[in-house]
This record gives sequence, structure tokens and C-alpha cells, in this order.
Amino acid sequence: MKTIRTVQAMAAWSAAHHREGVTIGLVPTMGALHAGHRALIRVARLSCDAVVVSLFVNPAQFGPKEDFARYPRKPKADATLCRKEGVDVLFAPHVDEIYPDGFQTTVSVPRLARRWEGEQRPGHFDGVATVVTKLLTLVRPAAAFFGQKDFQQAALITRLAEDLNLGARVIVYPTVREADGLALSSRNVFLTPVQRRAAPALFQALKAGRAAILAGGRSGAAIQQVMRKVVGKESLAGIDYLAVCDPDTLEPLKHIRDCAVLLGAIRIGRIRLIDNLLVKC
Ligand code: PAJ
Repeated sequence: MKTIRTVQAMAAWSAAHHREGVTIGLVPTMGALHAGHRALIRVARLSCDAVVVSLFVNPAQFGPKEDFARYPRKPKADATLCRKEGVDVLFAPHVDEIYPDGFQTTVSVPRLARRWEGEQRPGHFDGVATVVTKLLTLVRPAAAFFGQKDFQQAALITRLAEDLNLGARVIVYPTVREADGLALSSRNVFLTPVQRRAAPALFQALKAGRAAILAGGRSGAAIQQVMRKVVGKESLAGIDYLAVCDPDTLEPLKHIRDCAVLLGAIRIGRIRLIDNLLVKC
């Protein structure tokens, strides 16, 4: 495995591999890799000739009061995992490589970014869209792999790759969960044992919402109530949002026709958890 730290070396590696007709798969990450990231790497490994994993804790997607400084960083363990999974290139640039002096361009996907995470975290999706655009133009992968765990992020990246003709297929892989349903996340390490026991409340709420839809419920407001009730039973959890949305536009649905995505975010202490379920009926 090769570790690349500069934009110039990354571009040179991609150009050389393009000339040889190698198909490149890209898995963008912020590190502290877990089994969710590993699943993305494995799909990339199976479907592409060469796999690039980017590891970059992107300051542009953290708000001023968010946890950029505290975000977990485990570069050694991440490199070991990548090597073991047969990754060809670990692209781990310094912040100055991605945002050199004078950098000022922003990529925005305003309608998909407006609600939910975008509302709770102003500027977050501009930071995500900008860095992902940079990664896709630098690496020029045939396919880029993202997790359904971050449903709104995946929708926005699918849109921007198409809008800007970036030439990469955006593949969205299902959420990897713990045995009790909690979606894996790099931030889960911050949960105390008591908080950890409360954390599955979010997935339980989404499952209750799904069950209510599958039982014939079609009112968005009623399904939302079902979900709120489940989280409400967990005294440690506060609701940021629980919503029933159109999977394409992410706008709230008054009436569910053939499918919906249930989006949720809760707070347990200072930790925010997000999750979602796609329901076809
Ligand atoms: P990060 O949180 O490190 O996640 C990297 C990728 O792993 C994302 O596509 C995310 O959706 C996926 N992922 C996280 N947890 C997962 C799980 N439990 N199951 C399946 N996939 C999971 O998301 C980011 O980084 C950043 O915003 C990034 C796209 C790298 C841009 O900076």
C-alpha cells in the first residue's frame, strides 16, 4: 500500500493509472475506521481494479462549536486496516494541501442541503460538497463509495456528481450496525456505557415507524408521532428531528405513497446520533 500526502502526487498516480486503463474505486473517509468503512472498502475492492481510501478530517464541514479538535484520530490503526483490506493508496493529505492559502471556492447543493442535517449544522454540507468535489476531480474514480448511514450526504453527493459531470458512479452501501441496531459511527466511542445502552433508541424508533407504514399507516404526521413516542421513552435522549421524507427530494411527506425515507437525529449528552431507514410499501 502506498501512502500519498500531496495533491500533486495523488494526481500523478491517478493520471498514470488512467493511462493504463485501470478502474479506480474511491472511498472517502475521515478516518477512525470501523466495520462500516471496511464494508465500503470491500465493495470497492470487489468492483474496481485499484482502491484509493482518502483519510481527511475536513475542517470545512465542522461548525465553530462542533467537535473538529476532538474528532477521533487513529492514523496507525487506519493504515493497518487499509493494508489488510488490500487498499492500493491511502491518500492522507495535510489540511494545507486541500485548502492552500487563498482557497475560496465553495460547492453548494442548496435544495438537498436545506433541511435536517443542513438545518442543524449550518455550512456542514457546503464543506462536504466542496471536499468531495475536490477528491473526485483529483482521483477521478470510476466509482465512489458512500454509506447510506449518512442518507442526506449520499443524496447530495449523487446529485453533485451528476450536476458537475464528475464522471464517477456514486455507489451507496447499506448501513452497518451493531447487534442491537446502533449504526456504527466513529463518534460512538464517546458514549459512556450508560449512554451506549440508550443509543439504540433511535434505530428502534425508525423500526417502529417502518412497522407502522408496513401495517398500512400513510400519514406522515402519524408515523412521525410513532417515532417520537419511542425516543420519548428514553430519558437520556433528546430529539433533533424525526422525519418522514421523500427519498429523492428529502422534503417531508404528508401522505406516503409507495416509499419514504425515515430520517432521525437524536442527542445523548453531547453526542449526536443520526440514522435512517428506507421503506418501500
Ligand atoms: P466518515 O464519517 O468517515 O464516513 C465515511 C463514509 O463511511 C461515508 O460515506 C459514511 O456514510 C460511511 N459510513 C459511516 N458509518 C457507516 C455505517 N455504519 N455503515 C455504512 N457506511 C458508513 O462521511 C464522511 O466521513 C465525510 O463527510 C466525507 C464523505 C469523507 C467527506 O469529508
